[in-house]
Amino acid sequence: MYAALRSIGSYVPKNILTNYDLEKMVETTNEWITKRTGIKERRIASSDEVTSDLGYKASLQAIQRAGIRVDEIDMVICATLSPDYLTMPSTAAMISKKLGIKNVMAFDISAACTGFVYLISLAKAFVESGAKKNILIVGAEKISSIIDYEDRSTCILFGDGAGAAIIDSTEDKNEAILDVIASADGNYGDLLITPGCGSKNPIREDNVKDKLQYMKMAGNEVFKIAVKTLTNDVIEILQKNNISPEEIDIFIPHQANFRIIEAVRSKLNFSVEKTALTISKYGNTSSASIPMAMNDLYENKKIKYGDLMLLDAFGGGFTWGSALVRFAGKNFN
Ligand code: COA
Repeated sequence: MYAALRSIGSYVPKNILTNYDLEKMVETTNEWITKRTGIKERRIASSDEVTSDLGYKASLQAIQRAGIRVDEIDMVICATLSPDYLTMPSTAAMISKKLGIKNVMAFDISAACTGFVYLISLAKAFVESGAKKNILIVGAEKISSIIDYEDRSTCILFGDGAGAAIIDSTEDKNEAILDVIASADGNYGDLLITPGCGSKNPIREDNVKDKLQYMKMAGNEVFKIAVKTLTNDVIEILQKNNISPEEIDIFIPHQANFRIIEAVRSKLNFSVEKTALTISKYGNTSSASIPMAMNDLYENKKIKYGDLMLLDAFGGGFTWGSALVRFAGKNFN
């Protein structure tokens, strides 16, 4: 039995925050942001939308496109760094509730921007073991809820959104998720961190006053390690599976910074046409960035059944990973 990525779906909030809007909020310019990051605008969820609402809407689309009923889903996993609630209930449980899914395992994972690659690894293992048949995986983020809009080094980078997929079982090897490699190294934890609101710095007046509830990043250091790690990941997974870059139909890197994507893409000799790029319109949506980019390709008819996708992610933790995945979705709307 193999695991297949049967469908993709996405949801982007309606509100657009442009670089020009940010010029009015912090000391920055459209020119600086565009040149250093490639980002032009990002979506921001409204005050009455929470992460599970975004994940729910992306999931509805993925379920419908997979052609299954919600009662056929036997597990729900959500990757998020901006959950509805800090400890419980999980965002996956909230998404399940909104979908009307009952009596199946639902839980969140914390792997920051590598979340979707981790989800594929988990879902693949559960399906291949025979334990589950139809797994809903969701990367959903309301990152605006953990951003300090007075900190120009982070607020320009991130946006909200969600992406979801159905991973099901198949006997057809040509549809299979080929391989996933993923790792973490907590020694780099401090370089990209939300220091407050956990057991280390609990929610207290002094911690909140120090803005510890917001994300902090040593951007330049993260940048250098991200380029190296994202490149090494790809080399490792291609070599391990004896696949050449020419055999990849589409490269879907995590959308964090256009310069990071460009550096990795050119080192690996992937053409621009073969590389997914949504950074300019969505910014960095963390765990949602890869499925949102995949959905964009799907809706623009740039991926088709059987195409070999190479996913590549890096994020806080640090975490990183790559996946070789055949697109096994059949229905175009
Ligand atoms: N507008 C204008 N100037 C800014 C700015 C902004 N929004 N943010 C930082 N600057 C300034 C800095 O203060 C610094 O000024 P100085 O030279 O006077 O000290 C200068 O720009 C250069 O800062 P630096 O941090 O070296 O810029 P950079 O080229 O590394 O770009 C990032 C900054 C954040 C865009 C870049 O480092 C990055 O993308 N990092 C990785 C982000 C990432 O991938 N994160 C998530 C991983 S999943």
